[in-house]
Formats: sequence, C-alpha cells, structure tokens
Amino acid sequence: MNEKLIMVPGPTNVPERVMRAMTKPMISHRSSEFRRLYESIAENMRYLFQTEGDIYVLTASGTGGVECVVGNVVNPGDKIIVPVFGLFSERLKEAIVRRGGRPIITQTRWGAAPKADEIKEVVESEEDVKAIAIVYNETSTGVTVRDLPEIGRIADENDMLLIVDAVSILGGDDLPVDKWNIDICVSASQKCLACPPGLALFSISEKAWETIETVQRPFYFDIKTMRRFGERSETPFTPAIPLFYALDEALKMIREEGLKRRFSRHRICSEAFYEAIEALGLKIFPEEPVRSQTVITFRKPEKIDGVTLRSRMNKDYDVVISGGAGRIRDETLRIGCMGIISERETIITVNALENVLKDLGYETESSGVEAARRRLRDLE
Ligand SMILES: Cc1ncc(COP(=O)(O)O)c(C=O)c1O
Repeated sequence: MNEKLIMVPGPTNVPERVMRAMTKPMISHRSSEFRRLYESIAENMRYLFQTEGDIYVLTASGTGGVECVVGNVVNPGDKIIVPVFGLFSERLKEAIVRRGGRPIITQTRWGAAPKADEIKEVVESEEDVKAIAIVYNETSTGVTVRDLPEIGRIADENDMLLIVDAVSILGGDDLPVDKWNIDICVSASQKCLACPPGLALFSISEKAWETIETVQRPFYFDIKTMRRFGERSETPFTPAIPLFYALDEALKMIREEGLKRRFSRHRICSEAFYEAIEALGLKIFPEEPVRSQTVITFRKPEKIDGVTLRSRMNKDYDVVISGGAGRIRDETLRIGCMGIISERETIITVNALENVLKDLGYETESSGVEAARRRLRDLE
C-alpha cells in the first residue's frame, strides 16, 4: 500500500519526527524521566493555549476530554447555555444532558455561526446560568465562531464560566485562552497539533477551580485528582507514554515554528482551498465571514456520487478526504487543513479533486490548481 495523504479533519499527517518519538523505550510513569517529559509538555502547552492557568493531558480522545470537563463542571439540574449549529455542538449538548444538566439551547442555521448578541439575550433572560459551553470550530459545517472574544466578555461580566471545545482548531488558528476569558478549553492531539490520536488536552482557569470544588466529580476523570498529581508532574493513572512522547515532540515543533507563523500558514492554505473550490465551480458550505481555516466544507456536485469521488481520489491519487457529517452528510465533502498543511499537501489534494471530478464527467469552470497556486504565493 502506498503511503496516503490523510486530508480528513483529523487524524492528520504526522511528521516522521513525531512518529519516531513513540518508539523510545518504555519508562515508568512514576520516574524522574516521566516527570521531565510532563514538565516539558506542560511548558509548551501553556505556550499553545496562551495561558498562565493549569493544563492537563488525558489519555482519551477529544470526546473523553469533553466528557471530563462536563463531568467536573455540571451538577444535575445546572443550567448551561449551548449554541447548537452542527453535529459537534449537538454532541456537546448531549454530554451535558447525560450528566443531568439543563442545556439552554440557541439554534443557528448550519453554515452560520452563533452571534454574541444572541447569546447576550439568553444570558439576560435566564437566571442562575452556570456556564456557556460552545464549540469554537464546528467540524461538521466548517464554521468558526468569530464572536468568541465577545462571548468571553459576556461570560466574564455575568460571572459565568466559558467552556470551549477547540478540538478541531487549537494550533491552527488564534485562541488566546486567558485574553478571551476562557475558563476551560479542551482539544485533542490528532488534529491541528499533527500528533497521533489518543490524547485530550485542556486548560483550567482560577475561576473554573472554584466551580470544580463544588461538583460531584467522576472518579477516573476527576480534575482535582489530576491537579494533586500534576503538582508533582505526574498523572493519577497510567498514561499512554508513547503518545506523551509524541505530544512532546509535536509541541516542540509548534514552538519552533511559532504560533503566528503557524496560524498564517493555515490561513493561506485554507484560502487556497476555498479559491480552488470556487474556481472548480463548487459551492463552499459556510458563510464567508465565518469560514474555518482548519476544516474546509463544500457541497459536492449534484450529479456526482460523493463516495465514488472520495474512493477514486484515494485509489488513484492516494489522497483521503472526508464525507460530510450529521444531517449534511450526503451533500458535503470535507478537507482537513490542519497540522503540517503546506503548499505540497494543498496542491496534491486540489489536483486529485480536480482530476477525479473531470474523470467522473464533471465540467470544471477553471483550474483549481492554478487558483490555489496563486494564493499560495503568499506563503513565507
Ligand atoms: C469539535 C469537535 N469536538 C469533539 C470531537 C471529538 O473528538 P474525538 O473524535 O477525538 O473523540 C471532534 C472530532 O472530530 C470535533 O471535531
């Protein structure tokens, strides 16, 4: 089997350097070697989250991270505002419901983003709301909540916690946790960090600790126990040590590149994708101002079968893209613009898409590859 270019919205392509880190000999998680590894991860995670608060790594996928955070904040009966605008925000709501919380939902059309003033209205009309829980980047629709800084101000002024699911965006777009008043930010290893799947990462503010103290917390996912062990640079239970090595290396690579350059690289590559998609005569799913720079969602041509298109891209070009998610599953396709994304991955993917479309009898309006190339000239 040829090596595939993995262009789905996570997991993403992992650099050799990160893969190799996982082959280091096993160590005890109660050793000085592990404590050094933990400290190195912690330091670079604070840089990534742009926070002075506490940070933790869980051996779990992103959903485990979300479940952990919800379990440590929500008591049965607690009111939590949840904007729903796609599959992953529905799942966030579901995690709160399963915990016995009472989500106050704002519904936004799929393809659009919730607005700060809509949330403000709900905040002003409801009493005793404990938190706002929001997905920053809706991976189903390719929408980023550009009002997040304003939503952070609203949460702060009204003494509510702000919980952010940043699973498909942290490391690919700006997310200054402290500056935007985010109390808990949760993400995962396999997306914009260019690390293998299996770890959830999150940050905790001082304000969030006050709430966590008062909650009937789960046993395995008790963040207070994590803090106790974290004080001596350990985890409460056995962590996935090879993945911790991989994360350490991936974070070092992020630090070496610098956040500013990394976000700009994601932005330019995403614009190249969007311009290519439009040049091919296809329709971008989200509204323009809220288009994500990490997940590209677009409508498939009406007469072309999405599954056939994807399997031809895979078989003939070794490029793997994703189908749609949730209720727009059959109408849309998605490309991950994440992690190591550069000119190479962008052009190979657009070229594969363009050629397979032509092979399947779709008449393109103009060259997607040329449109992408023009935009990619701006890359450093
Ligand atoms: C926004 C968002 N939240 C949560 C998840 C769940 O992550 P995982 O599949 O790692 O459990 C995903 C996965 O795509 C996601 O995109």
